[in-house]
Formats: sequence, structure tokens, C-alpha cells
Amino acid sequence: MNFTTDIFETYDKQWALLTAGDMEKFNTMTISWGGLGTIWGKPVATVYVRSSRYTHEFMDGSDYFTVSFYPEEMKKTLGVLGSKSGREIDKMHVPGMTAEKAGDSVSFSEAEVTLVCRKLFMQQLDPKNMLPEIAEQFYSKDAPHDMYIGEVVEIIRK
Ligand SMILES: Cc1cc2nc3c(=O)[nH]c(=O)nc-3n(C[C@H](O)[C@H](O)[C@H](O)COP(=O)(O)O)c2cc1C
Repeated sequence: MNFTTDIFETYDKQWALLTAGDMEKFNTMTISWGGLGTIWGKPVATVYVRSSRYTHEFMDGSDYFTVSFYPEEMKKTLGVLGSKSGREIDKMHVPGMTAEKAGDSVSFSEAEVTLVCRKLFMQQLDPKNMLPEIAEQFYSKDAPHDMYIGEVVEIIRK
């Protein structure tokens, strides 16, 4: 298993899709916050999902999730998936995207790289434990983020 990337650029500038559920029912959303690293002796991906997202329900109901990365020309589609909720549009049938099984979860055949992750841990990021300026900037109006850590069990490359 091998994946080399500029992790700061990749999430922040390229963005990714976070997908959870199964082929019968899943949801996906754009993310630009996240990490890759090591904990408990395992290679992991960490993502942050506000509890208000529809994807949050799928993250809680699934043992696996995927983080997938796309070519630049798909940025417009990622913009839509990051501004519309699966509660308003059908994210299982997005024009130009083909859902496919990825390990025990779901990704899209257009992805350059998909990390299949086994959910190990989740916890709400408590604003009380943050620098006040961060708590004020990000959580004075909006729901908190929950942190999910997943073991990267497979890397699928196209
Ligand atoms: C570039 C970009 C990055 C985003 N990153 C995150 C993120 O890391 N965590 C998060 O909770 N929402 C993030 N969002 C917002 C969600 O993608 C957005 O609210 C989406 O509509 C949620 O869809 P859902 O309700 O179908 O889950 C991001 C949006 C964009 C456009």
C-alpha cells in the first residue's frame, strides 16, 4: 500500500469526496479538511464532518467510508457536491459520475485515487477545548464538526 501526495495541498486545494453507505444507499460530500497519518500502529485518514451534514448520518451508520481524489476538470462537480445536500439532490446519480463499489464502501470510477477506510473512532470536537478565536470563528453559529478516524485498508488507483 503506497500513496504519495502533498497532503496540505491535496485536501486544501484539490479537495476530495467523502462517501459513506453502500451501493443501495449512500451519500457523498466535498471535503477540504482532513489528514493522513498514523495512530494505534495503523495508517489512517482523518476527516471532519459537521453534524448537520446528510453525510454525517451515513458516517454514523457505516463501518467503512471512502476518501477519493479527482482530476482538476471535475472541480465544478465537486463544487456542486459541496454546496448542495443529498437531502435536496440525488447524489447517487450525479451527471458525469459513476458510483462503484470500493471495498466495503462506495466511490466513483472517475476518482484518480480512493482510500477505503475502516471507521475506528469518532468524537465531537468540543469548542470548549479550542482556542477561543477558532471556536468563535467556526462554531459561534454553526454545528460542531465530528472527527472520524479510519484505518486505510485499501488504496484504489485508476
Ligand atoms: C471546498 C469545500 C470543502 C468542504 N469541506 C468540508 C469539510 O471538510 N467538512 C464538512 O463538514 N463540510 C465541508 N464542506 C461542506 C459540505 O460539502 C456541504 O455542506 C455539503 O453540501 C454537504 O452535503 P450533504 O448534506 O449531502 O452531506 C465543504 C464544501 C466545499 C465546497
